[in-house]
Amino acid sequence: MTDRITIRRPDDWHLHLRDGAMLEAVAPYSARQFARAIIMPNLVPPVTTVTAASAYRERIRAAAGPGFEPLMTCYLTDSIDPDELERGHAAGVWVAAKLYPAGATTNSHSGVTDVRNIAPALERMQRIGMVLCVHGEVTDPEIDIFDREAVFLERVLTPVMRDFPGLKIVLEHITTADSADFVAAAGPRLAATITPQHLHLNRNALFAGGLRPHAYCLPVVKRERHRLAVRAAAVSGSPKFFLGTDSAPHLREAKESGCGCAGIFNAPHALESYLAVFDEEDAIDRFEGFAAEHGPRFYGLPLNEGTLTLERSAIEVSASVPAAGSTLTPFHAGETLGWRLVGA
Ligand code: DOR
Ligand code: ZN
Repeated sequence: MTDRITIRRPDDWHLHLRDGAMLEAVAPYSARQFARAIIMPNLVPPVTTVTAASAYRERIRAAAGPGFEPLMTCYLTDSIDPDELERGHAAGVWVAAKLYPAGATTNSHSGVTDVRNIAPALERMQRIGMVLCVHGEVTDPEIDIFDREAVFLERVLTPVMRDFPGLKIVLEHITTADSADFVAAAGPRLAATITPQHLHLNRNALFAGGLRPHAYCLPVVKRERHRLAVRAAAVSGSPKFFLGTDSAPHLREAKESGCGCAGIFNAPHALESYLAVFDEEDAIDRFEGFAAEHGPRFYGLPLNEGTLTLERSAIEVSASVPAAGSTLTPFHAGETLGWRLVGA
């Protein structure tokens, strides 16, 4: 049995760090595990200019400390200027741009109301080789919330891939067998990130003994068969699937509310949580590819130097952690995980 593994230092290809006191509280958790992270731009107001992204990057660097590189993204709006995208990409500020369908999730009201509105932006991104990160859910209220990802594949992603055949796309936080199959069947310019929660939870978790706001994120967790398909994709060794935590902190009172916010704060033990899955699936040998190699290769970035070690050892996850004058409830709160990051 493998009891200790050393891997190349990993990256997080999908992360919410917020700003201000929340940023200060959460950034160190990611920095102790990951060398780089793709930073989501859904602040209030959203990050839509190069100036705002550069300033935010500095605040993240200050909060995270040395050895952590934030990779910034531009929040796409109906009126985004393709020249601004190109300018930020050429300046090395923006690595990617994020498509939030308007109203799909937290702080997405300035998002895209119809993907045809951003055709000039997608055209430009295709030309300059800038990656498109996608929140893959339709917002049509007629569509059942558990079907929104599958319908997105057909209504939005398929036409975008047809109309922009050279555009590199990451379908973020996939939750269904439909998405795992779609991504696996597409060419190399489509990849997907996978979160720890979609590997561990199915939709029963939302209602286990009562309403469970800390299991609520978007896209919402799905049926068991989907969880198993997403797990199979993660451990498959395919370079099209890689680590993206979607760690999304909301203060406890914002989660435990009559209208609780979507988002799971998984940053404190993200790597240990993923490794537990690879261990259960007897695929520890594929963990390094998922966590540290597939992502940079897709984005065309160098692999990290340096390593990190995890050992088989019980670790108790705190029931809560302090943040911004209140607390956050981390993923796996109060549970015991079987792996521990050494020396961090
Ligand atoms: O659960 C989620 N939380 N999903 C998202 O897409 C956004 C995120 C957030 O920003 O809180
Ligand atoms: Zn997200």
